[in-house]
Amino acid sequence: MKNCLIIGAGSDVAKALAVEFAKEGFNLQLAGRNVEDIGKTAADLQIRYGIKVETLYLDVLKFDTHPDFFNNLNPKPEVVVAAAGLLGDQKVTERDQSATLRVINTNFTGIVSLLNEFANYFENQGSGSIIGISSVAGDRGRMKNYIYGAAKAGFTAYLSGLRQRLSRKGVEVLSVQPGFINTKMLQGVETPKPLTAEPEQVAKMIYNGFRSKKHVIYTPGYWRVIMFIVRSIPERIFVKLDL
Ligand SMILES: NC(=O)c1ccc[n+]([C@@H]2O[C@H](COP(=O)([O-])OP(=O)(O)OC[C@H]3O[C@@H](n4cnc5c(N)ncnc54)[C@H](OP(=O)(O)O)[C@@H]3O)[C@@H](O)[C@H]2O)c1
Repeated sequence: MKNCLIIGAGSDVAKALAVEFAKEGFNLQLAGRNVEDIGKTAADLQIRYGIKVETLYLDVLKFDTHPDFFNNLNPKPEVVVAAAGLLGDQKVTERDQSATLRVINTNFTGIVSLLNEFANYFENQGSGSIIGISSVAGDRGRMKNYIYGAAKAGFTAYLSGLRQRLSRKGVEVLSVQPGFINTKMLQGVETPKPLTAEPEQVAKMIYNGFRSKKHVIYTPGYWRVIMFIVRSIPERIFVKLDL
């Protein structure tokens, strides 16, 4: 049976995605900081789908632990999903250096540090899949969330380069560009209802994108059109908008 590792398995999208992989008979390695919460998901999936589920402690910000985390994985997964993310408070990140670094390191450098381990391993064995959950926020910086957006832009560029490098080595890399999703990340943030997807809906799209070996998916797909329009707005007009 194949194994799927989920980094940031406490995320609402990750939990819904774990169900999609479990339904298809994948064993799971669920990694995150809140092992008690992740353990509940693990127990539930084990009973419902008769698969093996392992719970692993992982803090994306603890860079020193990443090589050991990778080396201790047994078995090594065939699929890795990077779901961890931190929106942060834009106003705080503008003034507080530690908050800025936390957002950048959670969404970008921390994930890159981990995925590099898997990229090299998959490249050597000539197979494997990496799924990176980035964000439409990385498609164009906006004053409302540009620290988070800049980190996601970095992550999107990383995934693009990684895909080009590894596609010729038999390794798949899927970039996921979600718009608003109704998860705890957006608690207290007002979003337009018709443009806010449920995590289960997004998880199904991610699983289908992985199955059909897509390179880049927007979830839901209409975000591709929205972001095309947003990116096309001339800068002199964009600076005056309150998007
Ligand atoms: N919700 C949206 O509207 C939206 C839109 C675009 C993209 N995304 C992206 O989608 C992904 C999933 O997010 P979500 O919406 O499901 O949000 P979520 O429920 O808030 O999940 C975020 C997860 O990231 C984990 N995390 C944060 N810092 C971590 C660290 N240092 N080490 C390990 N794990 C860490 C959190 O762990 P704890 O449980 O320990 O806090 C949490 O489980 C994220 O990458 C997010 O940026 C979300």
